[in-house]
Amino acid sequence: MMKHYFEHASSVVFGCMGLGGEWAADAYTAEHVKQATIAVEAALEAGITVFDHADIYTLGKAERVFADVLKANPSWRENMIIQSKCGIRFEDATGPKRYDFSPAYIAQSVDGILQRLNMESIDVLLLHRPDPLADLPALGECLSNLHAQGKFRYLGVSNMHWYQIEALQEVVSFPIIANQLEMSLAYRDWVEDGMMANSALNRHSGYTAGTLEYCQRKNVQLQAWAPLAQGKYSGRGPADCSTSALVSKLAAEYGVSPEAIVLGWLMRHPANIQPVIGTTNPARIAACAQAMHTQLSREHWYALLESARGQEVP
Ligand SMILES: NC(=O)c1ccc[n+]([C@@H]2O[C@H](COP(=O)([O-])OP(=O)(O)OC[C@H]3O[C@@H](n4cnc5c(N)ncnc54)[C@H](OP(=O)(O)O)[C@@H]3O)[C@@H](O)[C@H]2O)c1
Repeated sequence: MMKHYFEHASSVVFGCMGLGGEWAADAYTAEHVKQATIAVEAALEAGITVFDHADIYTLGKAERVFADVLKANPSWRENMIIQSKCGIRFEDATGPKRYDFSPAYIAQSVDGILQRLNMESIDVLLLHRPDPLADLPALGECLSNLHAQGKFRYLGVSNMHWYQIEALQEVVSFPIIANQLEMSLAYRDWVEDGMMANSALNRHSGYTAGTLEYCQRKNVQLQAWAPLAQGKYSGRGPADCSTSALVSKLAAEYGVSPEAIVLGWLMRHPANIQPVIGTTNPARIAACAQAMHTQLSREHWYALLESARGQEVP
């Protein structure tokens, strides 16, 4: 079952959060569809096959714009793995910003995703952020029904501790195949955790010890959101930052883009991390895709880690 997903999945994922304009209740325009078409085409040309959505992105417009792109280019769909997320609700007339894993809301959200994307089924459904009020057996039953109805093929999660994944896994009979977390050269708790055993410093990390190892052992694909840290080390941050300078130097040495070094650092880890890139700029998409062919040496991986953390490893 899982084989299918990994066989077709590219090692870099295109994040669709930047499609569809502003996070506002206005309508999207032909310009947004054009921008999305250019970005999606650049991703496909660069060999990216996985597209990451969420029902909340630009308040539903990202999914609607994406559907328009595919309507005009139907052949693109066959090479794509499309995933979307649900479970986050913004403040509305009935309550504040909240998470909602109630069966009624999840079922309604999945139907909304399919309707906006104009599809009968999506490849992967991710639960966006854990809901403390989730009734797990009821959630499991709801997800099993939606799965049996063919509304999604694979189930994943996002921003979950390993023990939350394990608990959810107990209430569904199909495997949870992905966990999406913030991971980057700038956000390194996931790697620090494994190196800082026996250190008081570890207690200050917001990362739950063992999540990386759990996902590796259980074949849960790790997906890294904000993998470029919004360009902090690849052009947007100060050029005199020592890590940006090292990234540039290595880019020249490997003959690749700075983005390929920053993403290649994540991908060098044996956990097989898939960066979910958020750029909509076609040149930057191509620059990111070079990471799929960049293999950093152990020495360069550690040099980048040392530079970003500001001191050598313990
Ligand atoms: N699961 C979750 O909770 C969660 C949370 C957040 C995001 N996500 C997913 O992860 C994806 C990526 O997230 P992200 O967008 O935060 O991550 P990112 O890929 O680290 O950052 C992309 C952003 O940085 C800008 N950027 C990158 N390099 C730049 C440079 N050199 N100069 C100027 N701007 C630069 C891009 O602008 P340009 O477009 O101009 O290149 C874009 O706005 C999203 O699309 C979404 O699919 C998931």
